[in-house]
Amino acid sequence: MIKTVSTTAFDDQKPGTSGLRKKVRHFQQTNYVQNFIQSIFDSLEGFEGKTLVIGGDGRYFNREVIQTAIKMAAVAGFGRVLVGKGGILSTPAASNVIRKYAAFGGIILSASHNPGGPDEDFGIKYNIGNGGPAPEGITDKIHANTKSITEYTILDAPDLDLDAQGTQTLGDMTVEVIDPVADYAELMESLFDFPAIRAMFEGGFTMSFDAMSAVTGPYATEILENRLGAPKGTVVNGTPLEDFGGHHPDPNLVHAKELYDRMMADDAPDFGAASDGDGDRNLIIGRGIFVTPSDSLALLAANAHLAPGYAKGLAGIARSMPTSGAADRVAEALCIEIYETPTGWKFFGNLLDAGKATICGEESAGTGSDHVREKDGLWAVLLWLNILAVRKEPVKDIVTAHWAKYGRNQYTRHDYEAVETDAANGLMDALRGRLADLPGTTVADLTVATADDFSYHDPVDGSVSKNQGVRIGFEDGSRVVFRLSGTGTSGATLRVYLEKLDTGPGSAERETQAALADVIAAADELAGIKSRTGRDAPDVIT
Ligand code: G1P
Ligand code: ZN
Repeated sequence: MIKTVSTTAFDDQKPGTSGLRKKVRHFQQTNYVQNFIQSIFDSLEGFEGKTLVIGGDGRYFNREVIQTAIKMAAVAGFGRVLVGKGGILSTPAASNVIRKYAAFGGIILSASHNPGGPDEDFGIKYNIGNGGPAPEGITDKIHANTKSITEYTILDAPDLDLDAQGTQTLGDMTVEVIDPVADYAELMESLFDFPAIRAMFEGGFTMSFDAMSAVTGPYATEILENRLGAPKGTVVNGTPLEDFGGHHPDPNLVHAKELYDRMMADDAPDFGAASDGDGDRNLIIGRGIFVTPSDSLALLAANAHLAPGYAKGLAGIARSMPTSGAADRVAEALCIEIYETPTGWKFFGNLLDAGKATICGEESAGTGSDHVREKDGLWAVLLWLNILAVRKEPVKDIVTAHWAKYGRNQYTRHDYEAVETDAANGLMDALRGRLADLPGTTVADLTVATADDFSYHDPVDGSVSKNQGVRIGFEDGSRVVFRLSGTGTSGATLRVYLEKLDTGPGSAERETQAALADVIAAADELAGIKSRTGRDAPDVIT
């Protein structure tokens, strides 16, 4: 039976950098989820009888929202829903399923690397038929719908069994519960030299993969241990938990500290890696060396041809604006194009669809390629493994050789979290107000050469995205970027991205924060970070 429910609009359902993210309790308000899902469906056209993919990272509240989404999809007119068993699909796996089965689109339930549980975070995001996050044209429509919605429709039916693989019927729609891992593992096998990686493990290569009690556990166990023959126990924290064991499933040096410490020990494995809540981010650590995401992007681009899926070379490289320029010099050496996009994976979609870029990356631990339309944590790990299997050198040697050839981009990001929203906006507004006057002025011994607020002109569809981050370039080539996070759920998070090209002798040994001390001081002087936020130091340094 179809139920039409009258509802009132919420004024806070604007999708952010990656869909709608709020606290679970916020999502649990009556009609909050239903309003947003109806607003998604109302922003789409021509999906009658077509397929919708639904899956999430397994966090608390995942199953309830999946049941709701399926029952609403049945009334909206979709012909088929593909849902991962147990409601599980990593974000890259969902992207792959959308593409492989030519679905109309997908709903992905995740708050990525944010913590999970009744008092933590949840998120809903819509992906289009190319498998990638909906572009701004659609998210703007969704947002407009959330402001005017007056009713939603849902099938009044018992819950589906999400744990039994196979086909069920709901009204006029079929619901297929699929193996969440199989299609993805097959895709990885088609891109990488599994026999070579398997031989490397047989030869005694050791690795630790921290799945952070999040969605990649089953994927990593199947691929690394079952298909590639890595010893049992290579994957740690491999069982997805609704609250990620109480941790932040964020693969950075703060939240994956245990792995980091292990990798810095004398008896460290050859290779360490981790992924986040929904499986799209990656952390790469070699024995004795952390590889920054910006460097990892550059290194992967420079070596991708060693993997079968990329043997014919890259069409181009794309990176988000705050990501370091390390990849730019690789692109230059390869004589291919480099694209600079705003923060957020959705901006890569057009470049990938148009065949302009093959590999993309963000400083926030996201790397991926044209194999799907999301960043992909395990993909990055497997490409690294493929490169290691061919080059047969330690990660540290590969990285230092890269720096010797291209120079080293010293790079760090300082995050000030849960800053009072007015203070954060005030800081950004004040900076924006001074942009025209800054060039030529000297701050903390550095002279400003350029200052602007990044605007992106999409070379494929001509769309323009403004106010994507204040960037200040100094005469010595170093740079600072300021922007506010679009994924947080409480207050504002100020992100300060700091970078300098370090080519002098000893650059491989130079500690990053020390190498960037003058840029850090200049950033504080420019923006008045300490005085405006009242913080003495960043909450997270990556
Ligand atoms: C953050 C990252 C960004 C990434 C996004 C989704 O967004 O900075 O690179 O695409 O999460 O994973 P932000 O909170 O900065 O808006
Ligand atoms: Zn994520």
